[in-house]
Amino acid sequence: MFLQGKKIVLGVTGSIAAYKIPHFVRLLIKAGAEVKVILTNNAQDFVSPLALATVSKNSVLCTISDASVWNNHVELGLWADVMLIAPCSANTLAKFANGICDNLLTAVYLSARCTVFIAPAMDEDMWKHLATKANLDKVIQYGNKIVPVGHGELASGLVGEGRMAEPEDMLNMLTDFFANTDKPLLGQKTLVTAGPTYERLDPVRFIGNFSTGKMGIAIAESLANKGANVTLVLGPSAFNTTNKNITTIHVESAKEMHTACMEIAEVAHIFVLAAAVADYRPSDIALEKIKKKEERLTITLTKTDDILADIGKIKQPWQTLVGFALETNNELEGARKKLKDKNADIIILNSLKDEGAGFGHDTNKITMLNKNGNSIAYDLQSKKAVAEIIVNNIIKHIHDEKNN
Ligand code: CTP
Repeated sequence: MFLQGKKIVLGVTGSIAAYKIPHFVRLLIKAGAEVKVILTNNAQDFVSPLALATVSKNSVLCTISDASVWNNHVELGLWADVMLIAPCSANTLAKFANGICDNLLTAVYLSARCTVFIAPAMDEDMWKHLATKANLDKVIQYGNKIVPVGHGELASGLVGEGRMAEPEDMLNMLTDFFANTDKPLLGQKTLVTAGPTYERLDPVRFIGNFSTGKMGIAIAESLANKGANVTLVLGPSAFNTTNKNITTIHVESAKEMHTACMEIAEVAHIFVLAAAVADYRPSDIALEKIKKKEERLTITLTKTDDILADIGKIKQPWQTLVGFALETNNELEGARKKLKDKNADIIILNSLKDEGAGFGHDTNKITMLNKNGNSIAYDLQSKKAVAEIIVNNIIKHIHDEKNN
């Protein structure tokens, strides 16, 4: 499933191991990948372009241009989700190490922006030569990934190290690679709050709000699908989730939600506080049902603790804090103030003026503000799609922070 729809440029160079490549391409195609094969001149002595074109269901590329067609190496390099050179001869390895560009494969390699895997294949003595070792070190330094060579019978008849990894092993390696890049939040502890809170007045009444928890639950699911380990602190909501990577803690009041959140505040990497937490609670909860007596009833309210603000106060540089702002007037200004006052990294602004957005709807319309002062307004779309946008922005934020 992880290779489904993935675009792979497969470079094949002059080595006897090239005879295994049609089988390998067949495995990739079966797994749902799209494969474009580039053959060097020497590779064509070991495997036929026609065989590879047939199994890859794509024309095989051999030269930068022939009489009438120019193969755009830059475009190919950008098209690929991953590039794999298998088998990679000592000669091509040396070219990669030194930036030599004398054929289509080396040109695509130099233009590629994706991860490049190199699966060397050569005789043991060539493999162990200091020049090969130095070249290998260089390409690793450039950020390429090496597919370990195997031990066994070599083309020379000798037995030793230098065999290209088996097609099945290369398939597993690519599957693992995509499984991990599809799960960029693997190992990230994440806290999401969702839903309303109910603040009790007496044994039968409460002060609450119209939040359903749908937006927060969609965010929790999107985070979990990207590998995060999610704790969802959920107020009274008719909805829930069955996602195995989400642990749900059910709470009722702002106080309970605050306590549950603060217990994990020191260890979580990411916080997304989407709950519509009551700002005030009745100062006293009547032990008996409040009787209908006077014409007017006055209830005194006390401010609740602000979870977002309290986490903002103890936030560490490795933690990412995302809050929501529900505004009805001076929206951007209010959201910017919340971002600053509560020490958040990102604030998601919901406007009640937008039709189809907010409580109860299956759609939402947001504006995302980050602490650098940038804001992006998005169109109305499903809460699931909005959750994806929010989570992708969190991933981008974490990535940018790491690289600063
Ligand atoms: N929030 C919170 N704890 C509270 C109140 C709010 O964690 N006791 C969080 C919400 O989950 C949301 C953000 O704070 O992420 C903003 O909530 P909002 O009600 O829009 O803002 P307030 O700070 O309560 O300010 P105001 O009501 O004045 O707009």
